[in-house]
Amino acid sequence: MNLYQQIAERLRRQIINGTYRCGERVPSVRRLADQADVSMATVIEAYRLLEDDGVIEARPQSGYYVRVSKVLPAEPAISKPSGRPTQVNINALAHEVLQAANSPEIVQLGVATPHPDFLPVASLNRMAAATLRKHAIEVTRYDFPPGRHELRVQIARRMAEAGCAVAPDEIIVTGGCQEALSLALRALTHSGDTVLIESPAFYGTLQTIETLGLKVIEIPTHPRTGASLDAIKMALEQWSIAACVLTPNFSNPTGACLDEDHKKQLLRILANNNVPLIEDDIYGELTFHNPRPKAVKAYDRKNLVFYCSSFSKTIAPGYRVGWIIPPQNYYATIEHLKYVNTMACATLPELAMANYLTRGGYEHHLRRLRGVCARHTQLMIESISRYFPANTRVTQPTGGFVVWVELPEKVDALELHRLALLHKISIAPGPLFSAKQKYRNFIRLNCALPWDSTLERAMLTLGKLTTDLLN
Ligand SMILES: Cc1ncc(COP(=O)(O)O)c(C=O)c1O
Repeated sequence: MNLYQQIAERLRRQIINGTYRCGERVPSVRRLADQADVSMATVIEAYRLLEDDGVIEARPQSGYYVRVSKVLPAEPAISKPSGRPTQVNINALAHEVLQAANSPEIVQLGVATPHPDFLPVASLNRMAAATLRKHAIEVTRYDFPPGRHELRVQIARRMAEAGCAVAPDEIIVTGGCQEALSLALRALTHSGDTVLIESPAFYGTLQTIETLGLKVIEIPTHPRTGASLDAIKMALEQWSIAACVLTPNFSNPTGACLDEDHKKQLLRILANNNVPLIEDDIYGELTFHNPRPKAVKAYDRKNLVFYCSSFSKTIAPGYRVGWIIPPQNYYATIEHLKYVNTMACATLPELAMANYLTRGGYEHHLRRLRGVCARHTQLMIESISRYFPANTRVTQPTGGFVVWVELPEKVDALELHRLALLHKISIAPGPLFSAKQKYRNFIRLNCALPWDSTLERAMLTLGKLTTDLLN
């Protein structure tokens, strides 16, 4: 990196961490040259670079200012899926898209995991090393379901934050949230059954549904307030439904969050029809505003909720530590399914995770991560408003770290995905998030990436590619 690029990078970081805010004046050229002990020409070059990237702007006779972004783009409207039972068909597409993007030199705007810079890697490694020293033999043994007791104790404590008073013996440890969702679906459905899901929905859930030979009714979903309760009610009146699968807190991809009242109403509607809820709460801890929203499970008095989550979004996706809290009368079924599915979870990640949660500083890390997600989501929205065509719409989530972007209708997200890959940028194209590959002009972007010049250029490139597809 040249000297001027280093100076630009330093100021860019100060803008990201809030030292200089939108509309504020950054140091004059002379001042920064003195501070950094470089020539004024070097600072001018650094400021030109930041100006080209749209980060700062020069105001005549006044100096340089952090650029105030345009008015925030509008949100996408509530979705309008068909409302009829549909076969799911996304597995082949998901395989193609996800494999192609699986390379370290690609700017990972397509994945939904925080960059390792934002995860507690050093602390977790220390805890894993200590675990290995202390339990050298034990970690080589099978750890049959329901999973290590010390881990379930830590999970039970975290569940209190979600408003759920659960005992360690109500929890079954799983290989990530994906396995938890799959176990719940297998416990509740047979091939040919129909389940309700929000629309757009996380493609991992859709893939499991497809593999199990289930049908879905996709529920209209508002990007802020979540799945329409009226539509759920109507679907339940009209069709025989085996289960409802929702991510009520900061859904993937929209970031929608059901408020407390809607959560209670949802439970009442499901209880009236005796339909269980598979609740995916993987993003619940990543709220931008304290306290974190409660889980639907917190209000469940009728034993309807299969609660699923993991530490993949907050600590380490590679550890594959998740869990499920089924209703009491399903505990033995889920435990058995877990056993025949994978026999056991890997013992070392379980013990290391328990150790980290006990003494690794998780609360402190979580506070920091929430701040990063909030700030970087804002930066992403501003960057979209800077670089993308004028009628682009984007969600404004209050938790999590992805945004759902509606591009002008003419833009084909799958074509954009292929073009972006040629520039070493991954995106998650909209068709991945619907049973019949709808949302062709939508993309999901990951905001939890270090905001450096590489990312800024990737956003610039993506905006240009989108504009080119309009012509
Ligand atoms: C909503 C949602 N549920 C479940 C998963 C799967 O999580 P895990 O990696 O813990 O299996 C993801 C990961 O992207 C997700 O976004």
